[in-house]
Amino acid sequence: MHSSRVLLNYDMIMDTASAQKRIDSLRNELDRHNYLYYVKAQPEISDFEFDRLLKELEALEKEYPQFDDPMSPTKRVGSDITSEFVQVKHQYPVLSLSNTYNEGELRDFGSRIQRETNLEPEYVCELKFDGVSISLNYEKGILRHAVTRGDGVQGDDVTANVKTIRSIPLKLQGSGWPDEFEIRGEILMPFDVFTRLNEHRETNGETPFANPRNSTAGTIKMQDSSVVASRSLDAYFYYVPGEIKLTDSHYKNLKLAAEWGFKVSEHTKKCANIDEVLAFIHYWDSRRFNLPVATDGVVVKVDSIPIQNDLGTTAKSPRWAVAYKFKAEQVSTRLLSVSYQVGRTGAVTPVANLEPVQLAGTVVKRASLHNADIIEKLDLHLNDVVKVEKGGEIIPKIVGVDTDSRHPLNEKVHFIEKCPECSTPLVRIDGEAAHYCPNQATCPPQIKGKIIHFIGRHAMDIDGMGEETIELFFNKGLVNNIADLYRLKVEDIASLERLGEKSARRIIDGLEVSKKVPFARVLFALGIRYVGETVAKKLVSAFKNIDRLMESSYEQLIDVSEIGQRIAESILNFFGNSENMKLVEQLQQIGLQFELSKEELKGTSDKLAGLSIIISGTFENHSRDELKKMIEQNGGKNVGSISKKTNYLLAGKNIGPAKLEKVKKLLIPIISEDDFLDMVKQ
Ligand code: IVH
Repeated sequence: MHSSRVLLNYDMIMDTASAQKRIDSLRNELDRHNYLYYVKAQPEISDFEFDRLLKELEALEKEYPQFDDPMSPTKRVGSDITSEFVQVKHQYPVLSLSNTYNEGELRDFGSRIQRETNLEPEYVCELKFDGVSISLNYEKGILRHAVTRGDGVQGDDVTANVKTIRSIPLKLQGSGWPDEFEIRGEILMPFDVFTRLNEHRETNGETPFANPRNSTAGTIKMQDSSVVASRSLDAYFYYVPGEIKLTDSHYKNLKLAAEWGFKVSEHTKKCANIDEVLAFIHYWDSRRFNLPVATDGVVVKVDSIPIQNDLGTTAKSPRWAVAYKFKAEQVSTRLLSVSYQVGRTGAVTPVANLEPVQLAGTVVKRASLHNADIIEKLDLHLNDVVKVEKGGEIIPKIVGVDTDSRHPLNEKVHFIEKCPECSTPLVRIDGEAAHYCPNQATCPPQIKGKIIHFIGRHAMDIDGMGEETIELFFNKGLVNNIADLYRLKVEDIASLERLGEKSARRIIDGLEVSKKVPFARVLFALGIRYVGETVAKKLVSAFKNIDRLMESSYEQLIDVSEIGQRIAESILNFFGNSENMKLVEQLQQIGLQFELSKEELKGTSDKLAGLSIIISGTFENHSRDELKKMIEQNGGKNVGSISKKTNYLLAGKNIGPAKLEKVKKLLIPIISEDDFLDMVKQ
């Protein structure tokens, strides 16, 4: 609560170093959410929250251009590329839309258009469909390629799957279409299909999809198009890109598309001005859940194609269109009980069990309560009528309690004091929101959770094993920690239910193969709190092997870029625990990788150990990112702002005069790209 207040004021209090830190951390975070959203189809935050972070990053990057990075998430529109599909380049890049969240921002859009065109053009209002966007290519009226958005430049060729969607014409109808024709739209899973699919999944013990968009994304990327066919997807079309002018009006283009056999929403409306646009928005805000498919806003487009062309596009989105995003939908229901889940790190998460209620197209039975503070702040009582909100796609949350309707005998919800799984008294670390069960050694969900994390795709990626397998091994008393996995033998597990000789062998082989997994992933797989994939990589390149990491001091740890107090303490804590040390030792004996391989060590050295180097300007032979990487690979530290502790300024062309002056004042030596390359030469 308090911290977010402070953050909002960052422009007043932030110095350059903290700005760079924040920029780095926002980039990492946004990259991760992009991945979760586009690749995994399992977002953890709402679109709104994502946009907020992106806007914060955009603002910081504008204010601190010295930290510019062509790979920044602000420079791309996300990616949904998976390796299994053939990549196809889009003829016209797939742009996104800029978002507005209120009337004011929408009116600003209208005023800008008026100012720049000197007229009030007509608008077309469309529903913003919340599915997976698709680009279709027709040659001489025949569907040739269906390509996902991908990173906007190229996407996956999912033609085989798209052909199963009955509402998509395989051959264009009517006449007048160009020989080469591209059209864009959205693939959707209707609510009723989604509900049926999830019921089916739950009966089969599979995890249900969080929302129709995720299930659409999952479906369209399936390898077996017959399964896709059984899922009854639908598609609406809303844009004809490119210079080929069908007509001079977007609205007329859509009418033509409809004549050629595409499903174009019947709720598309031409509006004479922004007031009419707002009326359309208000109308649909309350009625959208009567539609058969998910929508999350309204898209407003300038109708005239010549005016569109005049207005042009930015790198990311057309300047002639904007999306108005609907606010999260809320609903009231009753709180039945609160249960508590224990994660692999021992963190205890409270979950509200609710009287099932329809919300934003799905039935909601549970809501996250996050932590004890939130329960306290809501002053939650059992049987209370609570207001539940679904912000975009995420797990719904309780945003308020109707205290007026509370029965006086309703019992206040108190956060549990003992672990629901092993009865150990819970602890709360100062300054942290979560309660933890400290019984790492024998609390079942912690043991299982750690092993499940260890075998996971981004960790050791062990073939043939999943959550259920670990559950089974644990329940049979075969594994109690990670090292036990490597003691399993084919004959121990072949006779277990659902396994058999073949699967057993696959698991044992998978474990053997995992002994080659590089150190950074092994370190991540250990499941040290706050040591994610990126942090593990940073630690590995700084310390090179586990011994040096285990011996490192707090100061040495926080000296590594992106390692702060919280992470450093967690690492010290982990290696300060004799059980963990024993585990590492056992894994070393088993033969897992605990140091950088010769291959990985190539190009690395200690030549810059202890040196802080600031990079500034533009360079002839290397990008700033490459230079930064070289500094780090050679044991140095790339810093963002000049201080007395800075050892060198690595200077390119066009350095700001203020920076130069400061460097001279502090007598910091300036080196060129060539000097630097000499310093690190092998
Ligand atoms: S027009 C150049 N119209 O929203 C204009 N997009 O945030 C391209 N979307 O990638 C997009 N409904 O997946 C447009 N009626 C609509 C839409 C729509 C949903 C999606 C589409 C796009 C994303 C942009």
